[in-house]
Amino acid sequence: MAFHRVLVTGAAGLLGSEVVRALTGRCEVVGLDVRRGDADIAWHVGDVTDRALVGRAVEGCDAVAHVAAIPNVVSGTGADIVRVNVVGTWNVFDAAEAAGARRVVLCSSDSVVGFTVLQGRMVPPDYLPIDEAHPMRPTDPYALSKKLGEEVAESFTLRGMEAVALRPVFIAHPQSRVEIEARARDPKGYRPGQAGGAQPAAGGAVWHHVDPRDVARAFRLALELDLGTQRFERFFLSADVTLSPEPTLERLAAWLKGPLPPIRDPGVWEANPHAPLYDLRRAREILGFEAEHDARGWR
Ligand SMILES: NC(=O)c1ccc[n+]([C@@H]2O[C@H](COP(=O)([O-])OP(=O)(O)OC[C@H]3O[C@@H](n4cnc5c(N)ncnc54)[C@H](O)[C@@H]3O)[C@@H](O)[C@H]2O)c1
Repeated sequence: MAFHRVLVTGAAGLLGSEVVRALTGRCEVVGLDVRRGDADIAWHVGDVTDRALVGRAVEGCDAVAHVAAIPNVVSGTGADIVRVNVVGTWNVFDAAEAAGARRVVLCSSDSVVGFTVLQGRMVPPDYLPIDEAHPMRPTDPYALSKKLGEEVAESFTLRGMEAVALRPVFIAHPQSRVEIEARARDPKGYRPGQAGGAQPAAGGAVWHHVDPRDVARAFRLALELDLGTQRFERFFLSADVTLSPEPTLERLAAWLKGPLPPIRDPGVWEANPHAPLYDLRRAREILGFEAEHDARGWR
């Protein structure tokens, strides 16, 4: 491992605790969160919007896995989401730079494309599969906060830092299994939150998902990645199948109630009718990431 001591923000959360697990034994891990988690690591308890706290937490670290955030559009007001997610990300980069920690791997989201959650406020993609060069068109505060987080990252990389923005689709945490199963039993009648899971079954029009253990492994790969002459990379992360009962393009066509966007590589869905809308090649070829888990057993 190229890194010896890594700060994980959001380390007490569902994904953050998996990231801590994925790094444990490979480097020293330090956690920051508003509450202390269970992992036996050094903890800095407090708010990521507190620049002084983040500065203390990152001291002596050579990299950061920035996971802390208000993790969706329903868990806070728009103002809180933008404040915590954007100022938090700025603090992490500013503190990392000041402490000499050269790389930040940040948790962005597929929502930056603008086609994920809020019905009536979703912009259909320009083309399929959606790759990392696709324009970002966030239409809700959460997606906007993730786009702005990527902008913060890019800005710091222009002056010497290294960053990798990971864009997971809906993370199928085990704590959400009951929700995913409830949706599978009754796709039309399902109401988000009805089964009492940690978060509702989501994943947008075609029910994308990715396993948190895979996302955590992607964090490790992104920390280890030889960036060459690049300073900034972005990768979509998804299981290679959706949870939708219908094939992906069929479901998308029904959902859009109109023609599909131009399909640049039809072979993707000929080979795998349930392939996600996102192009997973870049993650595979550059990051060396391929999902090892999927939640089809939960349907
Ligand atoms: N859950 C998903 O489907 C999904 C999809 C794509 C991206 N993400 C991103 O993944 C990351 C982790 O989300 P999760 O699903 O594990 O949710 P989570 O709520 O379990 O984790 C978020 C963690 O951040 C911490 N946190 C929140 N505000 C904070 C603050 N102001 N200061 C310090 N810590 C704070 C929380 O206490 C929590 O432990 C987030 O960045 C989220 O935006 C989640």
